[in-house]
Amino acid sequence: MNKEELVSRIKLVLSKANLSDELIETNTQLLLDGLGSKPIKLKTSNHFVQQNKITDELLHNNTWDQIYNKLDFIADENQNDSTFYSIDQSSLFMASPLFQISNKTNISILDTCASPGGKSILACSILDYAKIVSNEKSHKRLQALRENFNRVQLQNSRITNYDIRDLTRNIDEKFDLVIVDGPCSGQALLGKGFDNFSSYSSMKIRISAEIQKKILIASLNFLKDNSYLLYSTCTYSVEENENIIKWLLKKFSYLKPQELPFLSAHRSNAEINFPCYKLFPSDGLGAGGFTCLLKKR
Ligand SMILES: C[S@@+](CC[C@H](N)C(=O)[O-])C[C@H]1O[C@@H](n2cnc3c(N)ncnc32)[C@H](O)[C@@H]1O
Repeated sequence: MNKEELVSRIKLVLSKANLSDELIETNTQLLLDGLGSKPIKLKTSNHFVQQNKITDELLHNNTWDQIYNKLDFIADENQNDSTFYSIDQSSLFMASPLFQISNKTNISILDTCASPGGKSILACSILDYAKIVSNEKSHKRLQALRENFNRVQLQNSRITNYDIRDLTRNIDEKFDLVIVDGPCSGQALLGKGFDNFSSYSSMKIRISAEIQKKILIASLNFLKDNSYLLYSTCTYSVEENENIIKWLLKKFSYLKPQELPFLSAHRSNAEINFPCYKLFPSDGLGAGGFTCLLKKR
């Protein structure tokens, strides 16, 4: 794909997301320039919510951008403390719906596509969790997951190495929260300076969407009644985000997307009638991504 083709593909993806012409131009430029990733460090040994006094009142009276600016987990980037885990700003946005359920206690968590462990570590930092099972299909990527959990000393965690579609044969258990931050075309990576032009190809988008559907169907087996499903991606295409949720809701009417007032400024502009949230480079909080929290009724 040459640069001209890339530009037109980026614009197509952003226009399907219903961005204004001005935002399409700005975001295309930011993506092409590679806005650079600005990692933030999360001190995992502290309970993040208590440490930052994240109360219902704070969540109800502030936007995500205001909350983000109040967080004081952003440590000195040069600090050489092995219990810090570096994440990028968008990863925190993708996990931010979990703040909405941070008053619940003893949560059991399944992270279906876990390596290198960012969402697992974030979930355990945000929630009062009892245990976490973090599953990763790729044997090659397992080592990074193990090393990160060991390094941050993640308590009550278990790592499994299955294709999520085979996990039911190996784990006979249901969870309060299932996280699906699975493989996607990875369009936001371009903004982080990676040359992954193919993430904007229609074939890559289509293939990714099919994989995401299969992973989601398998993941639903692990939801308890009244439990939550967090679906997130680091990509902008509606085919892998809003349309996946639309498809899921049509097929599984017991799922209800949760309205998250503190993310309302980032509510998706796509033509949908349910709440889900998207961050773009122009928001100034990293390369972006998509997130949706669903409750099983
Ligand atoms: C976007 S990455 C996950 C990033 C991770 N959630 C984090 O925040 O650090 C997607 C992961 O899903 C894994 N994966 C892909 N297909 C899978 C499947 N069918 N079952 C389990 N894991 C899968 C990939 O190997 C990859 O490590």
